[in-house]
Amino acid sequence: LRVRKPIIAIDGPAGAGKSTVTRQVAKALNLTYLDTGAMYRGIAWLVLKSGIPVEDESAIAELVSQADLEFIFPSNDQPPQIIINGENVTHAIRTPQVTALVSPISAYPVVRQKLVSYQQELGKLGGIVAEGRDIGTNVFPDADVKIFLTASVQERARRRLIDFQAQGQDNIDIQQLERDIEQRDYQDSHRTLAPLRQASDAMELNTDGLTIEDVVNKIIHLYKMNESF
Ligand code: DC
Repeated sequence: LRVRKPIIAIDGPAGAGKSTVTRQVAKALNLTYLDTGAMYRGIAWLVLKSGIPVEDESAIAELVSQADLEFIFPSNDQPPQIIINGENVTHAIRTPQVTALVSPISAYPVVRQKLVSYQQELGKLGGIVAEGRDIGTNVFPDADVKIFLTASVQERARRRLIDFQAQGQDNIDIQQLERDIEQRDYQDSHRTLAPLRQASDAMELNTDGLTIEDVVNKIIHLYKMNESF
């Protein structure tokens, strides 16, 4: 007898399309979208605001242990609300400064322990589509469906360039974007604690040349094939 509602885990490197895909899968299946990257970004924002150097692990541990963290994951396709020490940082966590800091910050054990236990608490009832780097391997190893979403570095850089251009920035160097993506992949997959890697029972889905709709439909199809809910 199943005691909780389903969990779908979607992991993969930055820029593979996880956020858009996960949000749409959640909406289509009426599940909650759990954006774990936004939680790590919230901590990176907190560290940035505090002025504590990124190397100072013990001061960061203290900062995080005293912080009041509130994460609200709506059951529609709205972005998660991230509230830290009473301040709503939902938008502030998306700046390039936060993006640059989040990889080293998310490697600290104290940060991961705190956020993973929060995520597991939320997952007790199920009914979620969770997106991150360690969902299928570490946070929800017993997820009902596990996807490892990938795309080539070139494709991911190209998509990011289009995003920048849509924001009116057209002086972006695509080769620099490729190098940034490679560097972040390296950092995320070479940290000692819960590195980015594909769970042995996850299905790899390479999104090169696929539309968002194609990817969403494939995941929904997998979920329905698995369905015993
Ligand atoms: O998906 P994103 O770009 O918002 O993630 C931000 C960073 O957080 C990314 O560099 C890796 C880290 N992260 C993590 O370590 N574990 C997760 N489950 C999710 C994100």
